Amino acid sequence: MFLFLINIFDVFCVAVGKDEPAWSVKYDPSQICAFIGSTVTIKCSYKYPSKRGKKETEVKTRFWFTKNNRVPVDLKKDSDYKDRITYDVTKSSSFLTIKDLKQRDSAEYKFRFITNQPDGEFTGSPGVTLTVLVQVRRSETQTELKCESSCDQIKPPSYVWFNKEKKMKQQTSSIVVSVRDGGRYSCSVKGHDDLRSPSVYAPRPPSVSVTPSGEIMEGSLVTLNCSSDANPAAKYTWRKKNNQSVVSKDQQFILSSILSSDSGQYYCTAQNQLGEKTSGLVSVQVTYAPRPPSVSVTPSGEIMEGSLVTLSCSSDANPAANYSWYKEGEEAPKASGQNFTITNILFKQRGNYYCEAQNSRGRCNSTVTVNVVAGKSDRGHSYN
Ligand SMILES: *[C@@H]1O[C@H](CO)[C@@H](O)[C@H](O)[C@H]1NC(C)=O
Ligand SMILES: *[C@@H]1O[C@H](CO)[C@@H](O)[C@H](O)[C@H]1NC(C)=O
Ligand SMILES: *[C@@H]1O[C@H](CO)[C@@H](O)[C@H](O)[C@H]1NC(C)=O
Ligand SMILES: *[C@@H]1O[C@H](CO)[C@@H](O)[C@H](O)[C@H]1NC(C)=O
Ligand SMILES: *[C@@H]1O[C@H](CO)[C@@H](O)[C@H](O)[C@H]1NC(C)=O
Repeated sequence: MFLFLINIFDVFCVAVGKDEPAWSVKYDPSQICAFIGSTVTIKCSYKYPSKRGKKETEVKTRFWFTKNNRVPVDLKKDSDYKDRITYDVTKSSSFLTIKDLKQRDSAEYKFRFITNQPDGEFTGSPGVTLTVLVQVRRSETQTELKCESSCDQIKPPSYVWFNKEKKMKQQTSSIVVSVRDGGRYSCSVKGHDDLRSPSVYAPRPPSVSVTPSGEIMEGSLVTLNCSSDANPAAKYTWRKKNNQSVVSKDQQFILSSILSSDSGQYYCTAQNQLGEKTSGLVSVQVTYAPRPPSVSVTPSGEIMEGSLVTLSCSSDANPAANYSWYKEGEEAPKASGQNFTITNILFKQRGNYYCEAQNSRGRCNSTVTVNVVAGKSDRGHSYN
């Protein structure tokens, strides 16, 4: 099951004592609602005594953290966060910006600072979090979309649903939509109309590409790429046309050392909980040098002088090969084309012939022997 989630962050105010404590962290605003994929900034202001005795206070370290480890770990050192967060810190305030929000970002965010004073450390606590979630469930024929919120924890919120920007009638947390109606749905919590969830929709028709784009040489690396706009993100399947078998379940189908048997037409399918779309066909033609040609002589066996003789040559090649016929010991080709016909063969034309198949990838030849026996009438002459 795929979850599509939208977060709402609640950052609670720190209880600030009546006497303006010397050490404090104050979060403002105390509640932040945000959707998955969006960017949120959590702010706080913090205080500490400027001196202790004669020693000026200096802040050595300040950071944000979430996990309740024994030792708080700076989010900047958390691989889940480090590329998505920025700190903006002054002497009295700190901003934590998280972009591309994920469901797992639901957590309690706290700010901590450490000074040069003995025991001069402080954490603003509590600092809480979370949740609006849209969960997409799919059955055979219908899809259930669910919008959930704990943004307002006191009374259950009402919901506003949109299909292609148009407000829908439903106000329940779950709605059921047809799998085939091509809608784009989003929701918001009533009273937070500005905070709209991203739309969920079935995949758009996928586009496909082949890299490299030109001629594909046997043995080379070829990548077929499928791409479809979809939310939730599509899952991809690659198939070969004549053999409907699945060749890849990744967005990219990689043929690391392509064979001529990999030639053919391929297509991909993009699927998510709201539907499925199939791409057009993409053609992969693997080029290769001619294979050793097969050659034959008709008629076979001994050939009577004066007969009609056909030499045939055939080679598997891509692109298709052209053919040249040579006689052993002669420079110039006797003929071009797959078949070489000699209408009235002479005894002196006996010998080895070879056929050369050639295309842009290379060439290859095979030899055939033509056995001519002298005709009755001029036998004497022929053996001279
Ligand atoms: C696949 O195609 C998509 C859309 O054209 C593109 O964004 C993506 O970078 C491509 N991936 C690769 C590995 O080429
Ligand atoms: C389809 O291709 C796969 C692998 O390319 C092969 O294992 C399978 O036997 C083929 N099926 C048919 C019906 O040709
Ligand atoms: C060559 O001859 C064969 C029969 O021997 C025939 O089937 C084929 O079509 C011929 N090819 C060409 C290009 O003439
Ligand atoms: C055969 O093909 C090769 C490569 O494509 C080309 O260089 C050559 O001239 C062709 N020969 C004939 C006889 O058409
Ligand atoms: C025929 O092919 C062989 C190797 O496959 C090559 O050594 C030979 O030179 C070729 N003959 C001609 C006449 O091209």
